Amino acid sequence: MKFSVPLRKNLLGIKPYIPGKPIEELERELGIRNASKIASNENPLGPSPKVIQALETALAKISRYPDGGAHNLSAALSSYLGVNPNQILLGNGSNELLVLLGQMVLNPGDEVVFAEPGFIIYPLVSQLFEAVAKPVPLKDYIHDLQAFGKALSPKTRLVYICNPNNPTGTMVPLLAVEAFLKICPPDVLVVLDEAYYEYVEEKTYFESLRIMEKYPNLVVLRTFSKAFGLAGLRIGYGISHPEFSEIFQKTRQPFNVNSLAMTGAEAALTDIPHMKKVVALNSSMRKNLYTGLTRLGLKPAPTQANFLYFNIPNAPELYQQLLQKGVIIRPMGPTALRVTTGTEEETENFLNKFEEVLMSSGVKTK
Ligand SMILES: Cc1ncc(COP(=O)(O)O)c(C=O)c1O
Repeated sequence: MKFSVPLRKNLLGIKPYIPGKPIEELERELGIRNASKIASNENPLGPSPKVIQALETALAKISRYPDGGAHNLSAALSSYLGVNPNQILLGNGSNELLVLLGQMVLNPGDEVVFAEPGFIIYPLVSQLFEAVAKPVPLKDYIHDLQAFGKALSPKTRLVYICNPNNPTGTMVPLLAVEAFLKICPPDVLVVLDEAYYEYVEEKTYFESLRIMEKYPNLVVLRTFSKAFGLAGLRIGYGISHPEFSEIFQKTRQPFNVNSLAMTGAEAALTDIPHMKKVVALNSSMRKNLYTGLTRLGLKPAPTQANFLYFNIPNAPELYQQLLQKGVIIRPMGPTALRVTTGTEEETENFLNKFEEVLMSSGVKTK
């Protein structure tokens, strides 16, 4: 039988989100066991042992609904961040928050401003709510917030600033974000997506939460998926004006964050030294990747995140050839690749295999 329920027209053109290729799939295809995935900006050290321990205990209670008010995690986050519990938004990954924020402010025909290349979910959310995407090209790989200012119109309702930006890893200083907030009308929601916050070393980046008082239209998003290593649990959070948060709490699903995710996140916050270890490894692998790629004649964008982005001809073919060698990275259109930092071994293995691929492909980088 044919499916004949008419769907909302705006859904028909939505391009599916293509996640990184799973390791198990590649191993099955190649009949190998030691493939390495440095494609999805995941954390190579995994979560703190305290998280695993807490989850084991929490498993016994999964017949109960989660605490819909997330009392414990909100309290833990509030003291970790120095904000009020009534400012905290929790989501099934910060991805869910991106969708829920769109749902809260977008009406058909509204405009959404974001950088391109940028996180693929921003145009997707725009399309989901029949809004009009207004991508603004990066300038030298970096957000051009002056151009963002020019892209604003009376129809703009939502602006995403991805800082550091995915896929380039580049960041803009807080002063530049604030200069934009000053010229942005207060009836535009500005979402500062700081998914890679913990990895940033550049001093001029911090402290977005300290300027929230001045800009009630600002929402900051962060996640436990990256430096805290909980990507599979799905938990992200936001910090917003309490009035916004109040409406958010009414419009989200009652149990949008599951109990294991909350337990895991709470335990992760009790082991900051583990997160710092992850950040330190990232810092040295980021340097190794940067040096290694530069030696191969490439010019990676100046990253502050846990991945590097570089332009290169024939990117999809190079990606495929690397796959054949058991290494999964991420093609970003026809002329760019993105690679996540791994363990020392994974990073070195990638650089060796990538050099082999470049040699055999004949792609000129120098
Ligand atoms: C910029 C950015 N924002 C948000 C997310 C979503 O993260 P999560 O839903 O795992 O919290 C990602 C994931 O890769 C990202 O790169």
